[in-house]
Amino acid sequence: MDKIVVLDFGSQYSHLICRRIREFSVYAELVPYDISYEELQKINPTGIIFSGGPSSVYNSDAPIPENKIFDMNLPLLGICYGHQLIVNKYGGKVKRANKEYGSSLLTIDSNEDLLNGIGESIRAWMSHGDEAEQIPEGFQVIGHTESAKAAAIALKEKSIYGIQFHPEVVHTEQGTEILKNFVLKVCGAKQDWTMEGFIDTAIEKISKIDGNVLCGVSGGIDSTVVALLIHKAIGDRLKCVFVDNGLLRLNEEKEIEEMFKDNFKVDFTAVNAADAFLGKLKGVEDPEKKRMIVGEEFIQVFTEFAKGNGPFKWLAQGTLYPDVIESGVSKGPAAVIKSHHNVGGLPEWLNLEILEPLRDLYKDEVRKIAKILQVPEKLFMRHPFPGPGLSVRIIGEVTPTKLEICKVASKIVEEELIEAGLYEKVWQAYAAVGDDRAVGVVGDERRYGNIVMIRVVDSVDAMTADWTRLPHGLLEKMSNRITNEIEDVTWVTYTISSKPPATIEPQ
Ligand code: XMP
Repeated sequence: MDKIVVLDFGSQYSHLICRRIREFSVYAELVPYDISYEELQKINPTGIIFSGGPSSVYNSDAPIPENKIFDMNLPLLGICYGHQLIVNKYGGKVKRANKEYGSSLLTIDSNEDLLNGIGESIRAWMSHGDEAEQIPEGFQVIGHTESAKAAAIALKEKSIYGIQFHPEVVHTEQGTEILKNFVLKVCGAKQDWTMEGFIDTAIEKISKIDGNVLCGVSGGIDSTVVALLIHKAIGDRLKCVFVDNGLLRLNEEKEIEEMFKDNFKVDFTAVNAADAFLGKLKGVEDPEKKRMIVGEEFIQVFTEFAKGNGPFKWLAQGTLYPDVIESGVSKGPAAVIKSHHNVGGLPEWLNLEILEPLRDLYKDEVRKIAKILQVPEKLFMRHPFPGPGLSVRIIGEVTPTKLEICKVASKIVEEELIEAGLYEKVWQAYAAVGDDRAVGVVGDERRYGNIVMIRVVDSVDAMTADWTRLPHGLLEKMSNRITNEIEDVTWVTYTISSKPPATIEPQ
């Protein structure tokens, strides 16, 4: 398989470069900028990209890759800080300039190679405080903006390119075309990274392991795909366990069991531990305490299952590529199977090795695999759901009444969003409930009932979120249905706090 290696100099967009390249079916891998020459040789890349980063090349502590990497004679593309690194390395000059953030008009000076087919000009996304004042000898300017005279440069005979702007962000027009020009034309990489290919390779690798595999499934896309891949490789040597903690969305436990047992024919056990979880949560109001109790009880139930149904040699986990890189333990594409101990709070005496079939994948690639493996669309279009479940959507103590209100009201919110064609457009949507009550009139009778809070938010990564401006008619319909269909509810409110200062979940 051809590989593009992206050296990470700390840009917030580094992962995006890899994702964009993988979107046109070439494997791209993110590595730390200080990767050794020997390590890089082992990866055997077809081309190298230097990412952007917050540093200035003229500072004494500027991150610089190993010198020998420049002598590998591989096609090289520097983006933003990477561009400045190339200028500096080959004898040009980088200076502090007026900061340039946002969209600039890039005029194309040479339509060959990197900027082939891009036309006369494009809007390009800039985010930098330094610029190339003087380009190295032998290099040629292939694009400029009003303020950056050397916004794109090339040393064509050595296939070295530098661009000041970010082709990986959607705000750069034809950014993907520029990356494609580099990867496909300059590097000559083959488009052989497909999810069908990944599935075959993963199954082949997993089929070589011995012993039984334990996989906790939640009904979420990652654990489902992990289970299906392993099942295809080793059949019933895989045992899936699903812990019903009583804090799931309405009827979710039945849907998940049905999917695994009937659709997928996987060895699946649902452990009904609702009473144990709800018992431990009785009388507990503090949000952090609730989270802790749910976490500890989960480990307890899981450990019991492992003890009673083993022996297991492996524990399967749905770790994804961004988690691997963030934790700084990237081992590259060969490391589908990695072993270490005591992950996720499980006791060490269980002595489980860790199996992480998705550790080289981005979320959108996992979705593609789910589609290929015929996971019902309903499941992978579903909003993210917090591990501690409805215990974080019930303010104060988790009681049977509040739990029922939360489940049914959330179902109504979901149904109405789906009906309005908005479910997939929002990040998360649910109804929360606390202990506040308000008076209502039902028929001729005054009733003192619960207040339900509808929460619908837009977000891209859950780090920040804004409340969704839902049409008033839709909110009205939700409110009517909730008060009509749930006897205990008299009032419905809509939460209009964004994150920050609020969070997405109320507890
Ligand atoms: P907050 O409430 O912090 O939530 O804005 C951000 C995102 O994380 C989810 N969330 C959790 N997920 N365990 C999880 O697995 C948790 O304890 C937890 N708390 C919040 C939340 O649903 C949102 O998507």
